[in-house]
Amino acid sequence: MEYSHDTLAILGGPKAIPDSSQHEGMFHWPIVTAEDEQAVIDVLRGGLMSGVEITKEFERQFADWIGAKYALGHCNGTSAIQASMWACGVGAGDEIIAPSLTYWASAAQALQLGAAVNFAEVDPDTLCIDPDDIEHRIGPRTKLIVVVHYAGYPCDMDRIMDIARRHGLKVLEDTSHAQGTRYKGRMVGTIGDVGPMSLMSGKGFAIGEAGIMVTSNRQIFERCISYGHYERTGVPSLTGDIDNQIRDEKLGRFAGIPLGGVKNRMNQTCAAMGLVQLKHYPDRMAEIDQAMRRFWRLLEGVPGIYPHQVPDGAGSTMGSWYFPRGRYRSEELSGLPGKVFCEAVKAEGYVHSRLGTHAPMHLHPIFHSADIFNVGRPTMLSFGQRDVRQGPGSLPVTEGLHNTVLSVPWFKHDNQAIIEQYANAYRKVALRAEELMEHAKVSKLSETPA
Ligand SMILES: Cc1ncc(COP(=O)(O)O)c(C=O)c1O
Repeated sequence: MEYSHDTLAILGGPKAIPDSSQHEGMFHWPIVTAEDEQAVIDVLRGGLMSGVEITKEFERQFADWIGAKYALGHCNGTSAIQASMWACGVGAGDEIIAPSLTYWASAAQALQLGAAVNFAEVDPDTLCIDPDDIEHRIGPRTKLIVVVHYAGYPCDMDRIMDIARRHGLKVLEDTSHAQGTRYKGRMVGTIGDVGPMSLMSGKGFAIGEAGIMVTSNRQIFERCISYGHYERTGVPSLTGDIDNQIRDEKLGRFAGIPLGGVKNRMNQTCAAMGLVQLKHYPDRMAEIDQAMRRFWRLLEGVPGIYPHQVPDGAGSTMGSWYFPRGRYRSEELSGLPGKVFCEAVKAEGYVHSRLGTHAPMHLHPIFHSADIFNVGRPTMLSFGQRDVRQGPGSLPVTEGLHNTVLSVPWFKHDNQAIIEQYANAYRKVALRAEELMEHAKVSKLSETPA
């Protein structure tokens, strides 16, 4: 049988991306050079892994770069978020509001603090918390709104800050997906009360198993130190450094033993790598931005697939485009199921083509039945004044996203010829959707498991 050059690869035609094995360099991340290696080796040879001097320098530079007064390194993003929640005053019997669409560590630590999570919807276009779904969730014990700049997209911070200030709530910006993203000119993480984030290997700013929190609020900074950095609580025998000394007398009384009973210190191999990465991050982020914009420009006017991208102008950006997503509208593509679309793109040569995104968190059993404190009741109810558990159908937008959001390649370099191949793969499948739909009906392709 003869195939024309635009026959879909899944139907036996030639691939739009003939040899993706040649493109490893386009996707490889983080970019590690001899400079990073030397910095890490120096820490290892000096036996400095558990010290804090290099970490403090990294914190100073990171705070300057992002535009906050203080930064505090952590062993991972999860610990930075938990400490930040506690620093914002979240405790037993309280509630936080958080989007259900995110990685679990934006919210699950609330349970460990004895607080319940009231999950909010996201906007189907931005994939960020929907400001219209926050206010009615606020109760007498609500302390905190968690926002996640999802997949690099900045949340609607003006509206969120307005709601928070009117109700006396704190705002925690989980900036794990968005180091360097700007909202109306300001770096995200610095707009709310506190901006904790992951810096783990897969993130935009990636330095290993590490995290950091930023804030311009001295009290929140000191509370994060007290929670998990015993060595920096100002015990004279442990530090002569007054930079990080606890000034708050109530906290100072406990100097020497962390109030969280946890040890959140960053490994200095990560801090050393962080200092090197910080020098190059703005340029690397700019190249990713050019590459991703090129990809989406090439797909302008193609039906069924749309960028998850902040509109140009007004000073907002996508940072390093961590976890880039596209939005899928099967109704524009003869009803072709997204799963089949993604399989066809995969056959064209983009092996990581996938439908979906994070699973809705509000449906997970941990937020319904887990009894973490072993008191004979679900932790979501243990200390709470009311039951805020949410069942299926309660957040329909979030629950429907597994069919309308898909993965797209995360280019690290602006190589026009290669990006064109990937854009061609998506275009080719979208433009032949009707034919593929017919084929799927006949072959039951659409019934293959996801
Ligand atoms: C949105 C979000 N929040 C929190 C975390 C937790 O960070 P870590 O894995 O560094 O603990 C991650 C990722 O890992 C994340 O993607």
